[in-house]
Amino acid sequence: MKAAITSILPLIITPAFAGFHDWKPPGKNDVRAPCPMLNTLANHGFLPHHGKHLTRQQVIDGLYNGLNINKTTGDTLFNFALMASPEPNATTVSLDDLGRHNILEHDASLSRTDAYFGDVLKFNKTVFAETKQHWGHGKILDVAAAARARLGRIITSKATNPEYTMSELGDAFTYGESVAYIMVLGDINTGKAKRRWVEYWFENERLPTHLGWKKPSQAITAEHLDIYMERIRNITLTLPGGTDPVKRRAASHFGW
Ligand code: HEM
Ligand SMILES: *[C@@H]1O[C@H](CO)[C@@H](O)[C@H](O)[C@H]1NC(C)=O
Ligand SMILES: *[C@@H]1O[C@H](CO)[C@@H](O)[C@H](O)[C@H]1NC(C)=O
Ligand SMILES: *[C@@H]1O[C@H](CO)[C@@H](O)[C@H](O)[C@H]1NC(C)=O
Ligand SMILES: *[C@@H]1O[C@H](CO)[C@@H](O)[C@H](O)[C@H]1NC(C)=O
Repeated sequence: MKAAITSILPLIITPAFAGFHDWKPPGKNDVRAPCPMLNTLANHGFLPHHGKHLTRQQVIDGLYNGLNINKTTGDTLFNFALMASPEPNATTVSLDDLGRHNILEHDASLSRTDAYFGDVLKFNKTVFAETKQHWGHGKILDVAAAARARLGRIITSKATNPEYTMSELGDAFTYGESVAYIMVLGDINTGKAKRRWVEYWFENERLPTHLGWKKPSQAITAEHLDIYMERIRNITLTLPGGTDPVKRRAASHFGW
């Protein structure tokens, strides 16, 4: 009896591995996304490690438990994720679905090559080296650095990819993603992020807790994202080549 209890106890206390100090790279039957953060959450077990058929509740909880993203905001983000599912009227989505080109996945990513050139699901060292170059030499990344990297990658893709495309939704996502890493890896009040943490996260798809990163103490909401997206768009308009011929607020796509 005693043996039975002690052998089952660890299963009750830790039903599945999940946490900042638990991290496991994907195995060969696990699927991953073009999104470094969803991959990170799956690697830590905040999302199912296999990455398949994620439910609304799993995604809302994963974003909340891992990153303190407001649950209403998580719900909205899940609606976008569902668009990428190949099944009609899908209620779940797998991480690799998110790589379907020109639904949410777009050209000119910061750490992935364009679909025309190769695998959009995997981190690409060459592409990320370009992103780092656009960031400059500072040890702190701010929205201006994020704006330079975003626009720099777009200019490169336009010049090199004969099939370059960018939908309005894709464009809105590029703004959102570029501020997301500042907001989540950095300090949402100052708009600054330690470059070392951001680089470590992109390169390893692992939260940089051992470097000092902590889950944001203040919940991240759609309102924050809205303000940050407006800020990066404003800065982009001041950069060479950063004109925005379609005058619109990128955030309007998100309906908030
Ligand atoms: C349910 C929530 C989310 C969904 C559905 C989602 C979806 C995606 C997709 C489809 C991409 C690929 C776009 C592309 O580069 O082609 C992407 C990229 C990205 N995501 Fe997420 N994402 C989510 C949450 C987050 C969060 C919370 C962060 C916070 C840091 C984040 C940060 C990023 C970044 C920085 C990229 C750009 C990667 C790159 O350009 O190489 N995402 N996301
Ligand atoms: C999430 O943010 C919304 C506003 O966008 C707010 O009404 C709601 O109370 C927040 N939810 C939580 C759980 O903090
Ligand atoms: C999907 O939902 C729509 C609207 O509710 C419905 O008309 C359609 O039959 C559904 N399709 C499938 C394959 O379930
Ligand atoms: C990485 O990106 C570069 C530049 O876009 C591309 O030439 C190369 O084929 C990519 N590598 C893979 C493995 O997709
Ligand atoms: C963006 O620029 C507009 C026009 O100059 C300004 O009204 C707005 O406050 C700016 N937004 C942010 C978030 O900086």
